[in-house]
Parts: sequence; structure tokens; C-alpha cells
Amino acid sequence: MTRQAIILGLESSCDDTAAAVLRVPEKGPAQILSSVVADQARLHEAFGGVVPEIAARAHAEKLDTCVKQALTQSEMSLSQIDAVAVTSGPGLIGGVLSGVMTAKGLSAATGLPLVGVNHLAGHALTPKLTDDVAFPYLMLVVSGGHCQFLIVRSKSDFTRLGGTIDDAPGEAFDKTARLLGLPQPGGPSVEREARSGDPNRFALPRPLLDRADCNMSFSGLKTAVLRARDAIVAEKQGLTRQDRADLCAGFQAAVADVLAGKTKRALDLYLEENPSEPTLAVAGGVAANQAIRAELETVCTQSDTRFLAPPLSLCTDNAAMIAYAGGLRFLAGEADDLTLSARPRWPLDQTQPALLGSGRKGAKA
Ligand code: KG4
Ligand code: ZN
Repeated sequence: MTRQAIILGLESSCDDTAAAVLRVPEKGPAQILSSVVADQARLHEAFGGVVPEIAARAHAEKLDTCVKQALTQSEMSLSQIDAVAVTSGPGLIGGVLSGVMTAKGLSAATGLPLVGVNHLAGHALTPKLTDDVAFPYLMLVVSGGHCQFLIVRSKSDFTRLGGTIDDAPGEAFDKTARLLGLPQPGGPSVEREARSGDPNRFALPRPLLDRADCNMSFSGLKTAVLRARDAIVAEKQGLTRQDRADLCAGFQAAVADVLAGKTKRALDLYLEENPSEPTLAVAGGVAANQAIRAELETVCTQSDTRFLAPPLSLCTDNAAMIAYAGGLRFLAGEADDLTLSARPRWPLDQTQPALLGSGRKGAKA
């Protein structure tokens, strides 16, 4: 019979406080018994970005409630849980600490094993949670805090092919929205405006696309939007609705081109090694963007690769992915103890040199 475990997962590395209960088998699809996410958008709204201290305090206040809700919704009591999994990095240190301390408290009080999970491993293993995809597969994590290509070979074997050297694309969407006076989060607002815009009116750069590697850069793109905006304002003393739409469309097309071009490169590298039944999976809030998704799907179709995008609730930050990744560790006999530390930086692929940059949403791994 397949071994399985009931795992309580906690996530608090950025601006979402989350708890989930999962039934995780050693092999085959996991069952999400509950998944609770409390976002902090309202708390940070006035500041135009995530304020780490406010985030940490809100996590500390909300974690207990989220855990209670997750247990109630799953109809499980703590005595039926086999282990507590928690994001122990990378991310905003105060938030990660809040989660780790809560998980340690639960573990110390109940005697339950404690399993630390790398947040990026949670994202990278989500395709197995939702679709039971076989290893290996290629993963693009693209959110407000992260952007990297990973070959996922097992629950603990990841090769990073490249990533952003500065801002993550979601961060660039958010900053662009702010420059144009659009509401946060910027991704959906910019996408909405872009629908009625002309992507070719402004000649925006495609940073690093001329380089053969899989690294990306998005901070210059946002600066290019700023310059184009300032030029229009200097000329016409303001932006029309059409100017804004054209800037959004141009920006979005540039991000989509860079992501598609670099995905093509990452796929070529991946296919050299793993030619049979290739899969590209995406995770992260930016994967919700229809224009970006369409370009990625085209790249996949051109190289006979399956394209997989988990449901948005599991693409963005959540605790189900942490419970799942922690469950796989636990079933393999791995666990931590009360010395588990919170790590603001924690690259999944320790063999690669660190990528530069620490953006608004915390350290990039
Ligand atoms: O994965 P996520 O919920 O949180 C982390 O960043 O970890 O991603 C949020 C990011 C935000 O920067 C948001 O602007 C972006 O994803 N985003 C989008 C879209 N929806 C959300 N970016 C582009 N287009 C979208 N439709
Ligand atoms: Zn994330």
C-alpha cells in the first residue's frame, strides 16, 4: 500500500499568510483538504509596495487564525496531523521568522515533526501536486519576487538555467502601474489597459535578449517606460487614456518577448538533455497574464512541448504547495528540529552563482 501523510503547511514569506492541510501520498496525486490564504494587500496599499515590518506583524497576528481555519475546513484536528511543514526561506526575513516560530511552537507543543521547506521548491513542485507530472520537467517561476528557469529532477534536485539579475517581472508590472497612476497590484491593471493599446508605438528595449544565456533583466524596461512617460508629459502636459494604454501594451509586449525568447533558450538546453515527452510548467502571479501565457504556449507548441499552468490559486503564494513539498520530504524520512532557522536567501540550486538583486518583495534566491 502507498504510504501517505497528513501535513499541515504554513507560508508567510512575502505578503500572503497561508495555511493548508494536505493528504500527501508517496506516489500519485495529493489531496488538498483545505487551503486558506489571507492577503495583506490593504495593509500595504498606502505605501505602494510591501513594507516588511508591517508584513511580519500581520503574519504573526494572522497565522494562528489561518491554522485554525485550515484545520476546521479540513475536518482534521492536530492529533490527526503527521507533520508541520513551514516555509523557512527565501523571503522577507520577518515574515519567514513568523512562520518558522509558529511552526516550532506547534511542534514543541504537540511533538509533531517539523519540516522546513524552500518556498521556491514549493512553486517548483506544484506541477506534481496538481497534475502528477513525471520528473524531470522545466519550470518557469515568474512572480512579483521571483523569475527563474529550473530543471526539476526530483523533490530536491533542481538545476537553475538562469533568472532575473534585478527586478522580477511582477515587480516591474507593479512599478509600471505606479508610474502610470494605475491601481495595485499592477499586473492586472497594466494587462487591462494594454488591451486597447498599440504595442508598437513606443520602441521599448528587450533587455539581455541578445545574450545567449537564460538570464533576464527587467529594471531597465521600467525606466524606459518612465522616460517615455516623461517625454509625453513634457510635450503635452499630461497623459491621455490612449497614451497610457499604448505604454502598457508596449511594456507588456516587451516582457512577453523577453520571457518567450528566454523560455525558448531554456527549452533548447532542457531538450538537449531530456528529449522525451518534455513539459514546461509555469507558476507565479505573472503566469496569469494572457498575452504572456499565449507567447509561452506558442514557444511550447513550436518545440512539441506540453505547456502546463496550474490553477491560479496554486500558481500564486499558498500553503498547499508548502505542505506538499514538506510532505515529500517527510515521507522520504527527512525532518528538521527546533534549531531550524529562517533563511532570507536560499537558492534552490546551490551550485550556481547567486543572481544579483534584492527587490521590493525581498531577496531573490
Ligand atoms: O505569485 P504572486 O501572487 O506573489 C509573489 O510575488 O510571490 O505574484 C504577484 C505578482 C504581482 O507583482 C502582480 O502584479 C503580478 O504577480 N501579476 C500579474 C498579473 N496578475 C498578477 N502580472 C502580469 N499580469 C497579470 N495578469
Ligand atoms: Zn512565491
